[in-house]
Amino acid sequence: MDWLYISLFFHLVGVGMIFTLLLAGPIVESNYRWENDIRMKQHATKMLRNIGLLSPFGALVLVLSGIANMIVLNITFVDLFGSDFWLGLKILLFVVLLVMGMAISPKIAKQRALLLDQMSQQSPPEDVNDKLTSLNGEQTLFFVADWVLVIAILLLTLFKP
Ligand code: HEM
Repeated sequence: MDWLYISLFFHLVGVGMIFTLLLAGPIVESNYRWENDIRMKQHATKMLRNIGLLSPFGALVLVLSGIANMIVLNITFVDLFGSDFWLGLKILLFVVLLVMGMAISPKIAKQRALLLDQMSQQSPPEDVNDKLTSLNGEQTLFFVADWVLVIAILLLTLFKP
């Protein structure tokens, strides 16, 4: 039995999970932006938060299968700074992706949910719309950064410079 095929199989399952989430996020986000009804907006933010909560599972599959790939291919920790520098860089970008996902995304989701709650009240604060617009901008930046990082990771994996 070729263990590399097995670990690569699970690795590609993880890649698929991450890409599904990266596509689902902007689709739900666009529903949120186009929706005028506050309750529907609240529903969309909740869905976005749920999508975000799924990402640790994809990340776990990628890390475990990635480590299995390394074991099967005899790549050591020291190699990450030398002959397999591309992989060291890839892991670094992956950590940036994880930290961003854990720190930024839940923060935006929480703040938006709070502002939408305020908007549904009878006399919402005046600056609610401005704050929401600025958070929407942050969310767009977050999606773009996610895609840039994942594409860079894929290019590093394919070309192994
Ligand atoms: C978003 C994150 C990641 C993506 C999109 C990704 C993507 C891929 C893809 C498409 C392959 C197959 C390439 C091929 O067969 O030539 C691969 C292989 C591999 N990945 Fe990842 N990966 C990610 C994260 C990780 C992590 C976190 C690790 C290490 C812990 C890792 C370690 C490896 C290794 C060792 C290989 C085998 C490389 C080789 O064939 O020489 N990957 N990755």
